[in-house]
Amino acid sequence: MSGPFVTSRGLMKHYDTPTGSLEVLKGVDLEIQSGDFVAIIGPSGAGKTTLLNMITGVDTPSGGEIVVGDRRVTGTPPSQLVKWRARTIGVVFQFFQLLPTISVVDNVIFPMDYANVHQPAERRDYALSLLARLGIEDQAVKRPDMLSGGQQQRVAIARALANDPPLIIGDEPTANLDRMSTENVFNTFRDSAARGAAVIITTYDREIVASVPRVYELKDGLLHEVKADRRALV
Ligand SMILES: Nc1ncnc2c1ncn2[C@@H]1O[C@H](COP(=O)(O)OP(=O)(O)OP(=O)(O)O)[C@@H](O)[C@H]1O
Ligand SMILES: [Mg+2]
Repeated sequence: MSGPFVTSRGLMKHYDTPTGSLEVLKGVDLEIQSGDFVAIIGPSGAGKTTLLNMITGVDTPSGGEIVVGDRRVTGTPPSQLVKWRARTIGVVFQFFQLLPTISVVDNVIFPMDYANVHQPAERRDYALSLLARLGIEDQAVKRPDMLSGGQQQRVAIARALANDPPLIIGDEPTANLDRMSTENVFNTFRDSAARGAAVIITTYDREIVASVPRVYELKDGLLHEVKADRRALV
């Protein structure tokens, strides 16, 4: 397949609220290639999570369209996206959304079982290797609620990587991490991009903004690329 892996064209989203219609996205255009590693910045409430939810197809735009790979996400019934999403997109949610009743390592195995990715006999070792890579292999058999926020965040990252998806989306994936873990996660995402995944994260982390290959700012409902020499200003 040629062309961008993720395309957003004229994407609009408004929410009906008790105080009237809130226009969050007013025509967002974006093209992300396989192998790209991009960050989206912008003030709280700017619509970053909203935009990611449109790309993954868990929310529906008010106008415009999203295409991921050869699939037009917009207009596809949600039920038809579930299996496709499990194979295609690894998502690190802003609030993790780990399964509370199963262990950490089983949380990471879950997407492999669900989408039937990797040989069944190899899944546990792969999950453990991802946890080790993120520095939390010693937490593997605990339940998520026994972990700190930053440890839970890294479980969510391991889970997002479990199926080696061609698209990785992280909503503030390092918000709860110290400097060392943040760098580790950054390097992990960079390696995924180097192996051909498209990686999109939102972040407030200045060092990530300074080092990520491409940065966009979402402001007043529109997305603009921030050139490297201007990043210190935002
Ligand atoms: N389901 C909803 N109904 C109504 N308004 C919503 C809904 N979801 C989000 N919003 C509003 O849309 C705007 C964008 O929210 P969003 O969560 O996308 O912001 P964000 O850029 O991710 O912010 P943050 O950096 O704080 O995570 C906010 O003003 C929010 O209040
Ligand atoms: Mg958000």
